[in-house]
Amino acid sequence: MIGMLEELTTIDALRTRVQAERKAGKRIGFVPTMGYLHDGHLSLVKRARELCEVVVMSIFVNPLQFGPNEDFSRYPRDLDRDRSLAQEAGVDLLFAPSVEEMYPARMLTSVSVAEVTDTLCGKSRPGHFTGVATVVAKLFHIVTPDYAFFGQKDAQQVAVVEQMVKDLSMPITIVPCPIVREQDGLAMSSRNVYLQPDERIQALVLSQSLQWAQQQLDRGERSAQVIKQGMIEMIARQPLAAIDYVELLEYPQLREVQALERGQRICIALAVRFGKTRLIDNAITVVP
Ligand code: PAF
Repeated sequence: MIGMLEELTTIDALRTRVQAERKAGKRIGFVPTMGYLHDGHLSLVKRARELCEVVVMSIFVNPLQFGPNEDFSRYPRDLDRDRSLAQEAGVDLLFAPSVEEMYPARMLTSVSVAEVTDTLCGKSRPGHFTGVATVVAKLFHIVTPDYAFFGQKDAQQVAVVEQMVKDLSMPITIVPCPIVREQDGLAMSSRNVYLQPDERIQALVLSQSLQWAQQQLDRGERSAQVIKQGMIEMIARQPLAAIDYVELLEYPQLREVQALERGQRICIALAVRFGKTRLIDNAITVVP
């Protein structure tokens, strides 16, 4: 901990500060975010504080990862609130660049990761993970962290970033951190603020369907299709829910599985819309 939170908005200023800390032999932990912080983000900072002497957080709503009909312009933003939450949580350096700072000209370079992006959100949000991998690679070059912390709620994002780091030999350890949930089970997300009260209640079916799937596995069910179908039926009973996908996939390869085998690591993942709000949730588990 170096004391008061310092906010930097330019790439040069951030680089200079991080280089000074690195020269002093400090380990740099990095928590990339799009802001509108919640306890999920703060749990990443907590983990970063345990492993690193300096914690850098970025807040940047990255236009590259939003499709033309997605919520880039209405994505919730509140930098003042984020700044005090980050300070309280123990962030040392807050990097909050403008879009012009990050992308002063049209980007002609992109990073795209194959195969692990063929399913789930990669399929239903074309181009999304190229936008994510491109900005994360750029942020990694700017921040040069030793460790970077990502929430397991975006399980596919973790798989994509881990693959990118491995393929491009980036000297960074990716630390996936557990999903943080509201008391009633809803996974924390900046997008939860969009939910109308009736949608918020019905959205509980997401975590409930994941729990149900886990129970089926515990009882010995080995057909991915049977579990998937049961989850779909359960979610569809909520009138405001529109299912985007429900999948059981090998993790982290994200390949389809039919007959589940003992010891197999799988991701049970879903994306469901409630009105204009698209929520994702998942459980990563080992078949018992
Ligand atoms: O998970 C997010 O908030 C974003 O996808 C990330 C990693 C900050 C990249 O914009």
